Amino acid sequence: MRHMLMDDSLTSAEQNQVLHLAAQMREDRFLRRPFEGPKTVALLFDLPSTRTRVSFATGVAELGGHSLVIDTGASQLGRGEPIADTARILSRMNHMIVWRTSGHERLVEMAEHASVPVINALTDAGHPCQILADFATIAQRRDGLEESGPALAGRTLAYCGDGANNMAASYLIGGALAGMHVRVAAPAGWAPSAETVQRASAIAAETGGSVTVTGDPREACLGAQVIATDTWVSMGTEKDERIERALRPYEVTEELMALGDDALFLHCLPAYRGMEVAASVIDGPASAVWDEAENRLHAQKALMTFLADAASSSSTGQAS
Ligand code: CP
Ligand code: NVA
Repeated sequence: MRHMLMDDSLTSAEQNQVLHLAAQMREDRFLRRPFEGPKTVALLFDLPSTRTRVSFATGVAELGGHSLVIDTGASQLGRGEPIADTARILSRMNHMIVWRTSGHERLVEMAEHASVPVINALTDAGHPCQILADFATIAQRRDGLEESGPALAGRTLAYCGDGANNMAASYLIGGALAGMHVRVAAPAGWAPSAETVQRASAIAAETGGSVTVTGDPREACLGAQVIATDTWVSMGTEKDERIERALRPYEVTEELMALGDDALFLHCLPAYRGMEVAASVIDGPASAVWDEAENRLHAQKALMTFLADAASSSSTGQAS
């Protein structure tokens, strides 16, 4: 069974295939109906969400299906029912499971015991659906999608801010998979883990991309075609006064944007203006954040279609 647990749950070619399908689905919202029936998809949320919840629920409906949006605090999972038992129950009734949870190992456990595809809707380790939407946005706004070959290979993406969080890890791994040059600028104490850098570097060695971690946001942004950031306080982490002191130099300002190569600005949202990004940048002409948010819908519909196709090929014995 294929799952989407992290960005590299897809191969580089499959990531490209999903991005192409997302672009087609943006043009034709009802191109494919893999959940016709309707089939059902369980959307589980341990943490708050606006975009992920709405884009998955809308996406499942547009694919012909029906979604169950479950705040897990109101379910038995929230009272400690084992993840494995929940996985077995949901798999008996639903065709896919989408889960936002804090501990990535919880998602892995769900996938180990599920007999339907499981999708990461954000964990502490990564946010791969957001990265697909981001890459769909870069292709839409800057480069178009080539007929063959990786869509974004050779482009440079700089991420400034909390380098230890889920978005930074997904940019590193997903960007490497796309053959991009990913640069992360973060202060000491907020750098990506050695394990993430190693994992991304190994992928980049195969795709022709590269991975750079620096303490200097100017070095990261110089010549970059995309400049991205994320909140300094991720869900489940505590805000303290050290954060603003350490991360203030990494705020994406117009000065940093000017170092880029006609750079596009991306932010997964929600955004905190005057903290990780200046209002003049996120609300300015280089910002693609509203397309980026809309592309959550198209990218996840493409991903769910890909996983539904893979699941039906494996159940009929065809290679996926
Ligand atoms: N970007 C994102 O995942 O937004 P939500 O937290 O609103 O789902
Ligand atoms: N890094 C942020 C992303 C929110 C979509 C968080 O985990 O809260």
